[in-house]
Amino acid sequence: MKKILVAITGASGSLYALSFLKLMKRLSVPTEVIVSRAAEEVFPLETGLEIAALSELSERIYREDEISAPPASGSALYEAMVVVPCTMGTLAAIAHGFSKNLVSRAADVMLKERRPLILAVRETPLNLTHLRNMVLAAEAGAVIFPAMPAFYHRPQTIEDLVNFFAARLADFLGFDVPELKRWSGTR
Ligand SMILES: Cc1cc2nc3c(=O)[nH]c(=O)nc-3n(C[C@H](O)[C@H](O)[C@H](O)COP(=O)(O)O)c2cc1C
Repeated sequence: MKKILVAITGASGSLYALSFLKLMKRLSVPTEVIVSRAAEEVFPLETGLEIAALSELSERIYREDEISAPPASGSALYEAMVVVPCTMGTLAAIAHGFSKNLVSRAADVMLKERRPLILAVRETPLNLTHLRNMVLAAEAGAVIFPAMPAFYHRPQTIEDLVNFFAARLADFLGFDVPELKRWSGTR
């Protein structure tokens, strides 16, 4: 099975990345991870875990300055790339093709190779630049998949909220997620 490339940036919402990587592992989907400099600070702050803990969930962990790593080239075959959570800074870099580090370079590669690029953007409120950058990224082929929890499945815990979002992400990528509760109407 081909790999999923996961980039974690320094937006709030590190738990979404953790939950998604755990789900991929449970589904036996191989992953590689790129961690931005900012995420090296935000991820431990929000999860209580060190970045090193991700090596139990993913085959490779890259830092953003490893610009000669495989994700920097279109010849490395990743099925899809998910940026979760995605900052407005990384969104801007992707939208404008400004490959400033391994995260934005890898995303640029996915777009040029016409492979799926999913951006779980997270910020509130949004200014006009954020909104315009989302349009630009979507026009270039990215999928804007905002890190927004849903409530119709009646979550009881934060974990429920986070896991549902991660399951929707995996479902969107075409993976069979048995625990995903599908909406079946109100009747
Ligand atoms: C605790 C914390 C939470 C943050 N949350 C967000 C956020 O939700 N969205 C965002 O765009 N930036 C957020 N930031 C700011 C980014 O981390 C900062 O702009 C950083 O330079 C982004 O770099 P990166 O895109 O390379 O990860 C946050 C920063 C901190 C310290």
